[in-house]
Amino acid sequence: MARVLITSALPYINGVKHLGNLVGSQLPADVYARYLRARGHEVLFICATDEHGTPAELAAAKAGEPVADYCARLWQVQKDLADGFALSFDHFGRSSSTRNHRLTQHFAGRLADAGLIEEISERQVYSIDDGRFLPDRYIEGTCPNCGYPRARGDQCENCTKQLDPTELIEPRSAISGSTNLEVRETKHLHLRQSKLRDELRAWIAAKTDWPLLSTSIALKWLDDGDGLQDRGITRDLDWGIPVRRGTEPWPGMEGKVFYVWFDAPIEYIAATAEWADATGQPDAAWQRWWREDLGASDVRYVEFMGKDNVPFHTLSFPATILGANFDGAEPWKLVNYIKSFNYLNYDGGKFSTSQGRGIFMDQALGILPSDYWRWWLMSNVPEGNDSNFTWESFQAGVNKDLADVLGNFVSRVTKFAHARFGATLPGTPPTEPSSPTCLADFSEWSPAERAVAEDLARRIAAYEANLEAMELRKAAQELRAIWVVGNEYLQSAAPWTAIKTDPARAAAITRFAFNLIRLYAVLSRPFLPDTADRMLAALGLADADWPTDLEAALRALPAGHGFEVPPVLFAKLDDTRRAELETRFAGV
Ligand code: 2FM
Ligand code: ZN
Repeated sequence: MARVLITSALPYINGVKHLGNLVGSQLPADVYARYLRARGHEVLFICATDEHGTPAELAAAKAGEPVADYCARLWQVQKDLADGFALSFDHFGRSSSTRNHRLTQHFAGRLADAGLIEEISERQVYSIDDGRFLPDRYIEGTCPNCGYPRARGDQCENCTKQLDPTELIEPRSAISGSTNLEVRETKHLHLRQSKLRDELRAWIAAKTDWPLLSTSIALKWLDDGDGLQDRGITRDLDWGIPVRRGTEPWPGMEGKVFYVWFDAPIEYIAATAEWADATGQPDAAWQRWWREDLGASDVRYVEFMGKDNVPFHTLSFPATILGANFDGAEPWKLVNYIKSFNYLNYDGGKFSTSQGRGIFMDQALGILPSDYWRWWLMSNVPEGNDSNFTWESFQAGVNKDLADVLGNFVSRVTKFAHARFGATLPGTPPTEPSSPTCLADFSEWSPAERAVAEDLARRIAAYEANLEAMELRKAAQELRAIWVVGNEYLQSAAPWTAIKTDPARAAAITRFAFNLIRLYAVLSRPFLPDTADRMLAALGLADADWPTDLEAALRALPAGHGFEVPPVLFAKLDDTRRAELETRFAGV
């Protein structure tokens, strides 16, 4: 069994995330984590809120709250929503934790020891009207690379280029909108990541199995000439991790904090330490996931993120990790695989917080339970291209996949059985579990059941291969096809007809169909965890193993096994309701 460390990009603390954020990292990471756990692998799934930098300060100011209070409150909001969407993090940490303060300062100290940090006098945008420097998101303007008019000071979200605020064309203050700006000198620390360019290029060039989206963005900025510029890793802000060199003060850096993009990825490690703390384990427990010399050499580390995060995870964070091991004394884990995503659009345009356009996680849960959303999002996950949410497409996913296929199968089977045979599976119960009676049960399979088993064996193998490869959209399609097999079987085996002439045959069909329900619950669980639990609960089961032996799985429930008819699994979304939702979410 493998050991797999999975991290999802850390959601910014600055408000409830929309479905585009959710589908771009946390949700697919959850599906993958759930799948690997179901296969018996040792998984550690880590996420946290990204709490520093200008996004946090700006949002707290807007909310009229002290930034620390704002972050504590929004962490809880995001944690509750993560639970609402059944995201199975082993730990959901905070980048403002003591652990992250210490580790970030430690990494900075190591990088300084490596000669990779330079103190430089930097020209920075100062807003005369606001009376302060304007780092990163405090400044907006036109992207010098692609001409996008609303680029932020630290990165253009349109072309993903990492920017320096002084590069923006027609810059303005994000606080006051003032263009009364000037460039002033201030001292900052720079990470000399350009020194690691060759090492990084060789490392990325070897990642031939990565999605093209991950490697192409990395190589684009590496080969761009100025792609791997040395980057400022400190800021003139109040809120953040104070600049220290390890545990020592850093002369000249008083009052400054580390740049949010320096400390955020380090929080992946710190959150793992927070997890160990929260579960009463010693440091060795988190180090065995992160330090090659302390047990992590057999760990496979997989990161999930949206495409805008790729440069930081392929260049900046690896530069920190590699640089900190300059003397071979601290071999931290480098990522083994980066699964990155394109964007999800809302009805042909961008999701937009400011314009109230799109659907946010809290609103989604107020409309329908999480599995409805999980299903649509994952069956339309923007892997190859950007994808597009429309209410029509969502309605089709709910009605045609969930209600008509999976829900309908479970409902027809359980209702028929209950009406004709009562609350236990029909047939002669085996005298003891896995006795020859069970084998007899198996031998009762007609060519129809054999054909289904063969078809399913092929499809499950494809489903597993897609999940292993993190081809999640294909996996969702295959899962749907697996549900369809059950419906088609039921339709052609027609136990409601068989019962008139051959009750024993009707009983055998019923038992087989119930075993399909059990199988479907297990297979669907990575995508539909709550529904899977409800299906298993109807069968009186709390859990069930992955069907590594399919034939055994298909006769796991014997005659005499009790069940209940579950409440309707998925309600259909009618046209009136769809139209209402379309109007409500049209934005301003
Ligand atoms: O883009 C974002 O939402 C960032 N908060 C992601 C950070 S990922 C990691 F590096 F912390
Ligand atoms: Zn741009």
